[in-house]
Amino acid sequence: MLLYGASGHGKVILDIMSSLSVKVRCFVDDNPDIQNFAGLIVHHTLTEAQALEGEDYIISIGSNAVRKRLAGQLRLTAVLAIHPSAVLSPSVKVGEGTVVMANASVNSDVIIGRHCIINTNASVDHDCILEDYVHVSPNVALAGNVTVGEGTHVGIGACVLQGVRIGSWATVGAGAVVIRDVPDKAVVAGNPARDIRNKDL
Ligand SMILES: CC(C)(COP(=O)(O)OP(=O)(O)OC[C@H]1O[C@@H](n2cnc3c(N)ncnc32)[C@H](O)[C@@H]1OP(=O)(O)O)[C@@H](O)C(=O)NCCC(=O)NCCS
Repeated sequence: MLLYGASGHGKVILDIMSSLSVKVRCFVDDNPDIQNFAGLIVHHTLTEAQALEGEDYIISIGSNAVRKRLAGQLRLTAVLAIHPSAVLSPSVKVGEGTVVMANASVNSDVIIGRHCIINTNASVDHDCILEDYVHVSPNVALAGNVTVGEGTHVGIGACVLQGVRIGSWATVGAGAVVIRDVPDKAVVAGNPARDIRNKDL
């Protein structure tokens, strides 16, 4: 398999694959200045990497928008990376290409989309729905029945109260306490979280 994106995030995924005894043979990254990364060779195109159609891969890039763009282009097979210390209810559904990092907890009947990141020590409670390309940062707590729309980034240490609906391509600032619904593309922060782009709201 290969990891697409020679990044810090990629190193963490490499560690997960190592703990699962899955061999990663190389990184692919379009930055021509990077030749080696985390002990692996870096190729700059899939052709150079001699990637076969259907080869297993994970997009190891933190940007939700870039993951979406690449996922639409690559004719490879996106696989999951779930750290052995993560605890997922058997009823959880997880889409292809998603990574779940160390000590994350995901409770009953949660649905997680494709190419998401559930970062270290995040807690996702029962019946949450996370659409494709969501990133839930380290130490985030999502209470039960929270919905997070496509491409939204929930910043480190944020907490979201039960039943809140966060729209698509929104950003929740680090440490925010989200007590009410968040519209698409909004940037909210603070306790209680407010829109920091439109301060009248
Ligand atoms: C919310 C966030 C996206 C805003 O970034 P930004 O657009 O560059 O905003 P700025 O730094 O210009 O700050 C704008 C205002 O919001 C405030 N603000 C920014 N982030 C805040 C936060 N997390 N909590 C409270 N207030 C915050 C700033 O103090 C500033 O207030 P002011 O206008 O009164 O001076 C960013 O601060 C953030 O929290 N990102 C999350 C990072 C993260 O979790 N990374 C984890 C990766 S794994």
